[in-house]
Amino acid sequence: MGGKESTKNQRITFDFNNMMAEAIGEEHGITESMIEDLSEEISRVDQELKQKREEGKLPFFDLPYQDELLKEIHDFVTQLKSRFDNFVVLGIGGSALGAIALKRALTSPFHNLLSKQEREGNLRLFVADNIDPDGFKALLRLLNPKETVCNVISKSGETAETMSQFLIMKEWFEEKLNREEVKHHFIITTDKQTGNLRKIVNQEGYRDFIIPSGVGGRFSVLTPVGLLPAAAIGIDITQLLAGAELMDEVCQKSNVWENPAYMNGVLHYLSDLKKGKRISVMMPYADGLKDVADWYRQLWAESLGKKYSLTGEVVRIGPTPLKALGVTDQHSQLQLYVEGPYDKVITFLVVEKYQEKINIPKLYPEMDGVGYLGGHTLNELISAEQMATELTLTKNKRPNCKITLNNISPFTVGQLLYMFEVQTAFTGGLYRINPFDQPGVEEGKQYACGILGRKGYEKKRKEIEEMPSKNPKYVI
Ligand code: PA5
Repeated sequence: MGGKESTKNQRITFDFNNMMAEAIGEEHGITESMIEDLSEEISRVDQELKQKREEGKLPFFDLPYQDELLKEIHDFVTQLKSRFDNFVVLGIGGSALGAIALKRALTSPFHNLLSKQEREGNLRLFVADNIDPDGFKALLRLLNPKETVCNVISKSGETAETMSQFLIMKEWFEEKLNREEVKHHFIITTDKQTGNLRKIVNQEGYRDFIIPSGVGGRFSVLTPVGLLPAAAIGIDITQLLAGAELMDEVCQKSNVWENPAYMNGVLHYLSDLKKGKRISVMMPYADGLKDVADWYRQLWAESLGKKYSLTGEVVRIGPTPLKALGVTDQHSQLQLYVEGPYDKVITFLVVEKYQEKINIPKLYPEMDGVGYLGGHTLNELISAEQMATELTLTKNKRPNCKITLNNISPFTVGQLLYMFEVQTAFTGGLYRINPFDQPGVEEGKQYACGILGRKGYEKKRKEIEEMPSKNPKYVI
């Protein structure tokens, strides 16, 4: 793809007609005056974000601009390709979901099954984002250690799941390769200074990449966390950042009517608080975007699901994000969305041009129920079904909006990811909560450390030991 000019017509668009009262009525829809009434809040959050960005307190905003890092990753990946065939990510949550989303969106669904030649020399990618012993063992059985490089990704450098996987893989390599060699089979992506993983890098001299401080896991897809695995499997990360850069220009607009991230945030916020829509469903009509919906699910849930406001009041807010896949989930979820409670906003992700076009053959013309399909394409069918779903929801007064990608490319996906990050930060500002922490997750991590007897977590262990035992009456 060429420079920025040639890609400007590939800007993603945000259509929110069907969120508005004009389309679905005042009971469930948003009116322009509701948006106007929020204008002071909108400019307050806009100014806060801009000020924090200027002070360097929200470094995720600046991730589109990393020319040096792009070069470093390109050079390094060239070396990797000549030595290895498998790239294994050990990471969880924000340290894994971005790479998974990028792989699904921007490589063949069967990337790992292709020969190295068919992959044009790019590596296969496995993301071990769970610690199910069966799943992890199955992965180890599949891998040839000589051809495998392992990217351990952890911002904190402490996460029990990732660190356990690292220890297991280290021993696995040491049993199969000589000790000196093992060092070259690990790449560590972590904080520049803090955490045990950083200490291990310093002691043992692994190749490392840095997660900028101030960029939390779920906002880190455009750091080496997502960029390195993406480049290893052949994704054009320069275009990915070019897309994010374009969206940065758009999302700096203070006028909510010109800023899709702000407008989507406002509509979700108003729908939640004023119209009782506590659930936000993301429904891509493309297999490739399925895991973007998964990535977004984490971003939205962990950022906005909070007990306390910034001033310490108990607010317990947070719309619940769900993911669905068009058209598959029309045959699974749509019944609920159309006829169930009026508690959802549906966001469609729509693709104008799929890479392939498949004609449906004209067979069985004598059968009306089959013959009408012949002469059309699968592309027409999926697009007709999306339109039909949109119409049905709208007719039934179900708020829905649509983000359209001209095609699925690094440039459009870069825009999408960046837009959702800005939208999340902005919506957190409207809710007056901190979208960048996750105290609820931390509590669970601490209990797990207590159970496993980690030093310093004795209090948590004691709490667990002192808990009343379970009533056997309730176990049947
Ligand atoms: O978004 C987040 O902050 C979390 O999902 C983290 O990414 C996740 O808990 C893993 O943490 P870490 O990268 O420190 O291992």
